Order: sequence, then C-alpha cells, then structure tokens
Amino acid sequence: MDPTFKTIIEPFRVKTVEQIKFTTPAYREQALREAGYNLFLLHAEDVLIDLLTDSGTGAMSARQWGMMMIGDESYAGSRSFYRLEAVVKEITGFKHVIPTHQGRAAERILFSTAVQAGQVVPNNTHFDTTRANIEYTHAEARDLVIPEGRQPGVIHPFKGNMDLDALRQTIEEVGAERIPMIMLTLTNNSGGGQPVSMANIRAVSEIAHANGIPLIIDACRFAENSWFIKIREEGYADKTPLAIAQEIFSYADGCTMSAKKDGLANIGGFLALNDDDLAQQCRNLLILTEGFPTYGGLAGYDMEAIAQGLREVLDEDYLRYRIRSTEYLAEALTAEGVPIVQPPGGHAVYIDARAMLPQIPSSQYPAQALAVELYREGGIRPVEIGSMMFGRPREDGTEEPAALELVRLTIPRRVYTQSHIDYVIEVIARVNARREDIRGYRIVWQAPFLRHFTARLEPL
Ligand code: F0G
Repeated sequence: MDPTFKTIIEPFRVKTVEQIKFTTPAYREQALREAGYNLFLLHAEDVLIDLLTDSGTGAMSARQWGMMMIGDESYAGSRSFYRLEAVVKEITGFKHVIPTHQGRAAERILFSTAVQAGQVVPNNTHFDTTRANIEYTHAEARDLVIPEGRQPGVIHPFKGNMDLDALRQTIEEVGAERIPMIMLTLTNNSGGGQPVSMANIRAVSEIAHANGIPLIIDACRFAENSWFIKIREEGYADKTPLAIAQEIFSYADGCTMSAKKDGLANIGGFLALNDDDLAQQCRNLLILTEGFPTYGGLAGYDMEAIAQGLREVLDEDYLRYRIRSTEYLAEALTAEGVPIVQPPGGHAVYIDARAMLPQIPSSQYPAQALAVELYREGGIRPVEIGSMMFGRPREDGTEEPAALELVRLTIPRRVYTQSHIDYVIEVIARVNARREDIRGYRIVWQAPFLRHFTARLEPL
C-alpha cells in the first residue's frame, strides 16, 4: 500500500459472499424477549452485524481454502502437521510444537502439567479461560498490568505492559519456587486489547530468568501486538512484523495460542515450548485427551489453514488495514461523544457504559443494557464485559460489581467492510442520543459459573 494515500483500503477483494439478514424492530423485540435479553442466546442468523468476538469468526483467504483441499488426514505423521510445525518454529523459534483444538486446550494441558495447587501465576491480565484453567489447579492467577491499564480514559501507547515493580514484589512475597511461570498476554484482551512494548517484554523476561522462572506468552494476537510495536516503539519502524514477532518470542520459553485469532482460522491452537521434559509430559496428556501429537484434535485441513493463516497475518498491508479499521471506528465514536477505552486496542473498541449511562447502577448491569440497545436499534451484537460477566455475589445477597462496565465491539478479521462499520457508528450514535432513557435489568435466572453465557434477564 502506498502510504501517501489517505484512504487505507481492505487489502483483498471479495470472492464469496454470505448473506446477512435484515430484521424489523418488532422482530428484534421478540427475539430479545425469547433470548431473555441475553445476546448469547440469540440465533446468530437474527444478527445483522456480529461483533460478539473476533475468535474463529474471521474470513479465510482463497489460499487457505485451497490449502485445506490438500490437507493430509493421516493419523500419524501428517504432512500438514509438519507444515504447521515449520511455520510456528519460524515465527516463534520454539523447539516443540503441540497442536490443540483451541487456545484453552493448550492452557489446560500446560497448567495441569506445570502448575501446582498453592502456586501463583502472574500475567499482565489473564483472559477468562486462562484464569479459570489456573484456578482449576487450585493455583492463583494474579493480574499485574500497569495502573494506566486499568483506567479507561488514560492514554498510554502500551497499556498492556506488566507493572515491573509489582512483578518484583510478587516474586519476593510469594517466592520464586512458588511461581511456576510468568505470562504475558499479547495483546492484553481483558484490558482492552492493549499492546505490550518490546521493552516491557524484555524486562519481564529478564526478571523471570534472573529468578529461574520461565516466561510463557499468551500469543493469540501476537501479530497485532507486533504491529503496535512497529508503529509506536522507537527502533522498530523499519522492521518487518515477522522480525518483531521473532524478537518477542526470543525472550520467552513457550507460548499458548488460539489460532482462532491471529491464526486467521476458524478453529485450532497450539502450545509451543523449549523445555524437552515439559513438552514430553504435555504430549502425554495431549494423547490422553486431544489426540496424537501430529494432530492434537485438529483435522489435517485445519492445520493447513492455520499454517497459511500465520503467514498472511504478518503481512504489512493486512496489519495496517486491521489496526486502522479498529481505530477508524474508535475515532468516529469519539467524535460522536461516545466514551470509549482510549486508545483503542487491536481487535476491538470498548465502550465505557458506566460513563455513558451514569443513571444505571452496576447492580442493574449498565453494559448489558447498552449491549441490548445496540441489538434493538440496529441488529448489532456486541458483548458485555461488566458486572453481568464478572459480578461476584456477596454474603448478604448483593453483588460485588466488576471494576469496569464495558461493551466490546469486537471486529472479526477481514469480514466487514467500511460501510458495515459506518452503519455500526450510526446505530451507536442513535442509541447515544437517547441514552438518558435507557433503563437497567435484573437477572431472573443464572447458572452457578460463567453465568453471562446463559443467564436470563428482565428489563426494570
Ligand atoms: N487467551 C486470550 C487472550 C483470548 O482472548 C482467548 C479467547 C483465549 C486465550 C482462549 O482461546 O477461545 O481458542 O480457547 N478469546 C475469545 C474472545 C473467546 O472472545 O476474546 P480459545
């Protein structure tokens, strides 16, 4: 792409289309009632623009589909595995590549092998599945992101950075022997898709290794993080995303990966490690629950799609378009006066529902109320990341609210065009104009864990 042009276009043309369904306000009202005002319970077909997640929802390229046709479905020693292994080794430099059906399978295998009860795993911010898999082993998942990373309105180029002093203190207080690994999530999804700087990755690596602790990267959005380093960190402007990614991984001892994000695939993941013994133990568990080490729960064609996706995701034109298109949405919402987490992250824009709907207390789920309005107004499905997802019951029957009340507009990769996003902006602007009339919700049914997926609500 010629950078002297102002317009950054989608670096692809469309070869196959998928129809999306337009619905009427009355239809959506009925759909909301039937779903108990929980957007997870909608039929996806009734959604016009689906911004629930960027996970597994991307569009594959013609080349990926083509590679799938030559996938090798051999149970053992599949050519497709070797192709995937070669690409992962080229990007990460890690010695052992263990395919899994998605990111959380890599997490479960790693943590159930390497983490013991009573131990502590620091991270900038653990993603839900990472936290849950660590807690499942009766260890503690500790979030140590820099203070700026917890404040939605504060601008910082690398809001995903680890708080190095807090990390040192944690090691001192807990003892290195009780810390089986330190993790860094790139980009920091739960903190708003915010990047981590190379300087911070290097510093975390030095602290970890000085204490004999391995550093593991949660690499779901490693390419997006590499791009942020290229455009924001001194000394990286002339490096390729591949070279930046290689440097990132050179500071670590392994990674977990969901190929549903920066693998540009609809399913899949992997665990990559340098330690021979640990890798062997992980493979043993893999065979027990996922599959033989050369497929790990994936079809041969899935591994082809991922191998090809990992190459495409590091393309400069793709990354420039990807990060710019998220920023485009953020800029337009800011111009409309909609409060968002600043600066926008790589894969999503997060609306600050507490700031937008101050009349709704956390106990009445303001972010959920806003998410429902976006569907009601224009058939858009965002995801609530607030007290419906993270509220914790107190002894007296009330709830400890989440730290932030956010609505995540997550952008699937290569799926929507600029006019789709312009429509999203218009819908949000309309909702913003009538924000004072929006009311809260109460939960009428909930499951004991991860209630946001299935809870049913009622408007107040
Ligand atoms: N780590 C991070 C940072 C993630 O964002 C996710 C998934 C996972 C691990 C788990 O990977 O889904 O393949 O098992 N995030 C999705 C999301 C679900 O919507 O943010 P998985």
